[in-house]
Parts: sequence; structure tokens; C-alpha cells
Amino acid sequence: MRMYDIILKKRNGNALSKEEIEFFINGYVKGEIPDYQAAALCMAVYFQGMNEEETVALTYAMAQSGDTVDLSLFQNLSVDKHSTGGVGDKTTLIVAPIVASLGGKVAKMSGRGLGHTGGTVDKLESIPHLKVTMEREDFLRQVEEIGIAVIGQSGNLTPADKKLYALRDVTATVDSIPLITSSIMSKKLAAGSHSIVLDVKVGSGAFMKNYEDAYTLAQNMVAIGKSCGRKTSALLTDMDCPLGRAIGNSLEVIEAVEILKGKEKGDLYEVCVALATEMVVLLKDCTFDEAKKTVIDAIDSGKAYNKMREWVSSQGGDASYIEDTTLFEKPIFAVPVTAQEDGWISHMNAEAIGIASVILGAGRATKDAPIDYSAGIIMEKKTGDYVRSGEALATLYTNDESSVASAKERYLSSLTFSSQKPEKRTLIYDVIR
Ligand code: URA
Repeated sequence: MRMYDIILKKRNGNALSKEEIEFFINGYVKGEIPDYQAAALCMAVYFQGMNEEETVALTYAMAQSGDTVDLSLFQNLSVDKHSTGGVGDKTTLIVAPIVASLGGKVAKMSGRGLGHTGGTVDKLESIPHLKVTMEREDFLRQVEEIGIAVIGQSGNLTPADKKLYALRDVTATVDSIPLITSSIMSKKLAAGSHSIVLDVKVGSGAFMKNYEDAYTLAQNMVAIGKSCGRKTSALLTDMDCPLGRAIGNSLEVIEAVEILKGKEKGDLYEVCVALATEMVVLLKDCTFDEAKKTVIDAIDSGKAYNKMREWVSSQGGDASYIEDTTLFEKPIFAVPVTAQEDGWISHMNAEAIGIASVILGAGRATKDAPIDYSAGIIMEKKTGDYVRSGEALATLYTNDESSVASAKERYLSSLTFSSQKPEKRTLIYDVIR
């Protein structure tokens, strides 16, 4: 078999066989197939797509490309969640401690920022000293003892996705349904949880811009999860506007802490309650209303916040930053963005806002570029708010003064104003079980 022929076959719109897909994944992981050929195949898949059999074969080949985790020791209490990625999406930082405080075993592998979207691992690393790599025994021990551990894709778990994810990020091949399905589900299958809740984002800041594509992605992923004997469901949630108020690594950690302390409500709170509720439904086989009540109680009672502190300390992080978030380092520049007209904000291009935060230093321009954990954006006004000319829309945070003009321009051009009050945003579009 030759990689050239596989690329050509897909480029010409033909379906690849299971053997060809396995040849590609095995060869790429071993370093026998170079990045440029893998990138060419990803681009061919981006344009030509993959049928169901190809997507399943790709998912299995990626899941089996390295080690797998055995969570059978936690029986049916192990539960995982995964978001398809969005702007300001810090839901794992909130949902994981809620569910762990309710008896779930959250043994989770998370990713780094990808394209215009942030990643949980980068956010966690913004907490001083917190480690996102762990020996397997320590990882399992921590889950057993406190119900939660979140690490990066360390060791030899889905090495195929590790390589492909970084490659897709810099070759404009992220937003492809078969590539996202196989990336996410290979990790979820290898990570071993009994129950899986997928948060499929829809809208301008998501990889899936429209409802139909997001629905197809969700259905594909739920079907693959179920076919492997995992309890799997998906929520289709809004990403037509960034989630919450903060974008950027430590800024998002601070906002997550505020939610867990019960100090902040709004869209982020609603989406987190819905995701945590679905995880509890799968775990405990209870009704949605019963599960929701326990989730809200975990926040109101401080149980979930205490679990976050315990989690941060267990991973070596300095929990005093969680207790007092003013300790997080502040960037040198804090630049206000003000409205240039009166009106209702009728739309925000969340992807453009994500790119503005990457420009400020919160994300990576290339796959090995460093990140500025303190950089990002705090939004004062969002879709549905009324603003007067001269009023603050957002504050941009950065240590790189030269990034400000271009980030500001992107931010302003991402907003659409209207003289009419827009309809209230829908936050949860659908649940697929
Ligand atoms: N998240 C993933 O884990 N993989 C993708 O391809 C996109 C989002």
C-alpha cells in the first residue's frame, strides 16, 4: 500500500477501506508517513467527507493507536464529558467538580486550544504549579480518592489524535464532521468511561456553524459511543455568542470559580447546569428534574466549589488562587473597547472574538507557540444587551502592546448592532440520547 494512492483515492471522492485507514493511522503514528502527506489526506477528507463505515474505521484505528484506560474499577460511576470546542467554553472546569461532588468518577483527558477555541488543559495550566501529566496509577488513585482528575493527552493514549489534532489546527482542517467525530470519540473510547456526555456547539464560534451539521455530528458520535457499549448522549448548545463573560486562560478559571461560588449566573451557568444534569441522569438513572435539583444544590451548598479546591491541590496546583482569584497575574495592558453607536447587540461573531483573544496572546498561532495565560477578553456587553455610544463593550488584556490595535478592530467588527431588541437566545437546542 502507498500513502500517495490513499490520498489520491480520497481526493477523487472514493471511500477508503478499513485496511487503508489503518495503514494511514499506523504509519503516521510510527513516523513512517510524514506530516505533509497526513495534511493532504486531512484536506481531501475535509472536501470529500467520509461515509459511516470510514468514520467508524478511523475512530477505532485512532482509539487503538495507543494504550487504553481501564476504568472498570469504578463500575458504572465513571463519567466523561467533551465539548466540540467554543469560545469562552470553560464548562469542564465547572461541570467536572459538580459531578464529582455528587459521586461521579470523572477521569478525564482534555485538549489544548485549537484554532480560535480555547482548551481545558491550557486553562488548568494557568493555575500556578498545576500538573496536567500524571502516571496512570496516580491518575486512577486521584479519581478513586476525590472523584476527579483531568490530564492532557499524555503518555501513549490515542497518539494518532495527538498528532492529527496539532496538524489539523495549523492546516485549516478542523471543521470536518468525520475528523471531529473520530478525534473526539477515539479519545472517549480510549479513556474508558462508562458514560459520556457530548456538548456539541452550534453557531458562529463553533466548528459547526449550522444546526444541521451539528445535529449530524452529534448523531454520529452518539451512535459510535452506543455501538461500543457506552451510555452516550449529546446536548446541542449555543455557540453563536461566546459563553460567559471571560475569554482567555486564567480569566476563564476566575469566571469558573465565580460560578462555583454561586456569584455568577447567566448563559454559562445555564449550560453548565444542563451538562452536569445530563451526566447525573446517565450516572444515576434518575429523572432530569431530580438530577437538576442535586446539581443546583451542589453549587448552592458550596460542595462543588470545595471539590474544585480539592481537585486543584491534588494536581499540585496552588489552591490559594482559587480561594482568592485576585492572586492571578494581571497583564500589563488592559484596554477598553467602547461602543461607537447606540443600539442593541443583535449578533456577535464568536469566531472573530476567539481570534481576537488569540491575537492578544491567549492562544497559539503555530502548534508549538507559547501562550500568555493572563491574556484575553472580558466582555461587558453581549448579544441582547443595549449599549450607548461611548459605553464599555469589553476590556482587552495582553502583555503585547502591538497586538491591541488589530484585536480591537476584530472585536468591534465582530459585533452587529440593531435598533430592534433581538429575540432571546436559545441556549440548549436539543438533547440526543
Ligand atoms: N475537539 C476535539 O477533541 N477534536 C476535534 O477535532 C475538535 C474539537
